[in-house]
Amino acid sequence: MTGTGRVLLAAPRGYCAGVDRAVIAVEKALERYGAPVYVRKQIVHNVHVVQELESKGAVFVDEVDTVPTGAHVVFSAHGVSPAVVSAAADRGLHAIDATCPLVTKVHREATRFARDDYQILLIGHEGHEEVEGTAGEAPDHVTLVTSPEHADTVVVSDPERVVWLSQTTLSVDETMDTVRRLRERFPALADPPSDDICYATQNRQVAVKKIAPASDLVIVVGSANSSNSVRLVEVALEYGAKAAYRVDFAHEVQPEWFRGVRTVGVTSGASVPEVLVRELLTELAEAGYVDVEEVTTAEEDLVFSLPKELRTDRHGAR
Ligand code: F3S
Repeated sequence: MTGTGRVLLAAPRGYCAGVDRAVIAVEKALERYGAPVYVRKQIVHNVHVVQELESKGAVFVDEVDTVPTGAHVVFSAHGVSPAVVSAAADRGLHAIDATCPLVTKVHREATRFARDDYQILLIGHEGHEEVEGTAGEAPDHVTLVTSPEHADTVVVSDPERVVWLSQTTLSVDETMDTVRRLRERFPALADPPSDDICYATQNRQVAVKKIAPASDLVIVVGSANSSNSVRLVEVALEYGAKAAYRVDFAHEVQPEWFRGVRTVGVTSGASVPEVLVRELLTELAEAGYVDVEEVTTAEEDLVFSLPKELRTDRHGAR
C-alpha cells in the first residue's frame, strides 16, 4: 500500500445498543452458568465477535434440536419465530432471549396486524434470520417483498387490507422506493406505527452519506452476512464514493485500492467492535493516511437492559 492522505471517520459507526446487549448476554450467561453455553445462529453477524465468544466457551448451533436437553441456549439479536421458542421449550432448554428490542417491536407489529387480518408485506431479504423470525409470527399473513422491482409484481388478496413492515437493517432509500411502488399499486397501504429500520441502521447510513462524496475510497468494516454493513457499501457508492469495499479485518485491504487515493472514508457496521476499526486505522496510518478527521452526524446514547432471564442474580434478587 502507498499513499499520503487523510481519513474521514464516520460517526456513529460500529456497535449498536442491540448488539452490545446480545454480546454481553452471552458473556454473562457464560459467567453465570459456565461453558458451554449454546447460541442459536451467530449471536450477531460478525466473524470476530463469534470467534471471541467461541474461545470463551460459546457453542454456535444452527437449530435448537442439536442442543443437549437441559442446556442453556441464547437466541440471537436477530430474533426467532414462535416455532423456535416452542422447540426449545419442548427440549427442556433454558432459553435466554437476546433478540434486539427493536426487532421484538416489529414482531409485535406483525402479530397485531395479522390479528386484524391484514396482509403484511414484509420488505426484507429472503433467508435472513430476522425475516424468518418476523415472518414466523404470522406465517399465513406475511408476504415477503425482496426489492423495489418485486413491489411491482407482488400479489395481494385484498388491496384494501395491506400493511408494510420491514427488516430493521435495510437501505432507507431503497425501502422508501419499495414502499412508493407498493403504494402506487395499493393506495390503501397502511404504514407501520413507527420506523422499522432501526435508529442505528439509519444513523450509520446518514454518516456514510456525509463522508462518501469527499472520499476516493470508502472502507466498511463488517462481515459479509451483516445486512447493515453490506448496505453501507452500497450507500457509499450511491452517494459519491469512487470506490467502496467491505472487510472483516484490516489485513484484507488490497494495495491496489489505494492507487490515486487521497481521502479514505472509514465506517463500520452495527455488529463491529471498535477494535477492528482501530486496527484498520493503524494499517492506514502505516500507508501514510495519518490525518484522521471524525465526521459526526448524530450522538447515540441508547442502552438496552439485559434479557430478563439474566436480570436477576443467582438468588433471584434484581
Ligand atoms: Fe437492534 Fe438495529 Fe442493532 S435492530 S441489533 S439496534 S442494528
